[in-house]
Amino acid sequence: MDFNDLSAQQKLIRDKIQKRINDVLNHGQYIMGPEVFELEEKLKSYVGVSHCISCSSGTDALIIPLMAKGIGPGDAVITTSFSYIATAEVIALLGATPIFCDIYPETLNINPDGLEKAYDKAILEGLTPKAIISVDLFGLPARFRLIDEFAKSKNLFLLEDAAQGFGGKIKNRKACTFGDVSSTSFFPAKPLGGYGDGGAIFTNNNELAEKMRSIRIHGGGEDKYDNIRLGLNGRLDTIQAAILIEKLAIFDSELIMRNKIAKIYSNELNPNFTLPHVPAKYFSSWAQYSILLNNKEDRERIVEFLFNSKIPSMIYYKIPLHLQKVFKYLKYNEGDFPLSESVADKILSIPMHPYLNKVDQHFIINRINSFS
Ligand SMILES: Cc1ncc(COP(=O)(O)O)c(C=O)c1O
Repeated sequence: MDFNDLSAQQKLIRDKIQKRINDVLNHGQYIMGPEVFELEEKLKSYVGVSHCISCSSGTDALIIPLMAKGIGPGDAVITTSFSYIATAEVIALLGATPIFCDIYPETLNINPDGLEKAYDKAILEGLTPKAIISVDLFGLPARFRLIDEFAKSKNLFLLEDAAQGFGGKIKNRKACTFGDVSSTSFFPAKPLGGYGDGGAIFTNNNELAEKMRSIRIHGGGEDKYDNIRLGLNGRLDTIQAAILIEKLAIFDSELIMRNKIAKIYSNELNPNFTLPHVPAKYFSSWAQYSILLNNKEDRERIVEFLFNSKIPSMIYYKIPLHLQKVFKYLKYNEGDFPLSESVADKILSIPMHPYLNKVDQHFIINRINSFS
């Protein structure tokens, strides 16, 4: 059994992918070939925004918008203390200061009640608050309405990190529309994953879109050798775009399959574990299905118990961002964000992918329910 079985999906669409790759080999436009633009068009209409800018990773999809906004030293960017390192890393890479906020213990997403305090902390430290990065953790959109309300009230730029969230929704509004700019990742294990690194940026803002397209390719202006700002080598490879076009074609059916499995888990797993909570009118793309144990010791025991039953499991994330060694200089302490810290000790993600068969689902459920 795999934690995330990418080969099952490949079997289903291998011929189509092979044909797409052959097309690229035949035309030979490996950089910014026609498939890159075809994918951008398809992603843009899937999400429902005016611009999609594909790029080389979910990390670049975060740093490019921050660069376009000119965020740098002296600026503060508010974000969740419970996410993958990339969310906060991009802030610090630009010389700005990450200011963290705690999470809701139910959804594990940023709790907007903490935004005001984070904003005040930035001011107190002599920084200029410029932006918020909200994260759609494990596929569930963050609480957009309240985050957006706060961002607007303070004139902050809202960047949605939907690296894990592509495919999620609030009512009929899709993830990757919950920011002034939104970003996603095509890392292979993500809900829409390629066969290598990749990412995309979404926005309705024409001016920012133009800047971000320029930053993606070394800050180009009129032509390739006219450079008007600092940029990156941040392009998505044509071959990855070609692969992603075929994966996007089956994405909605995979979302339904992921949701069916999540529902079975949530109905049948012992409610003594804390199971994931999806608020009314929210729809998750189930990048992960994560349960909470009672404490760290129980988690250690169940990891071993599952390993002995040949059930893979993963811990996302063992260390909250404010306690990561790399951010020691920010001088946060244990106890600053108690909910993030407690979740980091108790969380465990179990196998979740569209092709997890019924036998494996029931085996996982039975083994977990027999853990004591
Ligand atoms: C929340 C979050 N943000 C950003 C990233 C970075 O994406 P990538 O690995 O494509 O650079 C990830 C990847 O795991 C992520 O989970």
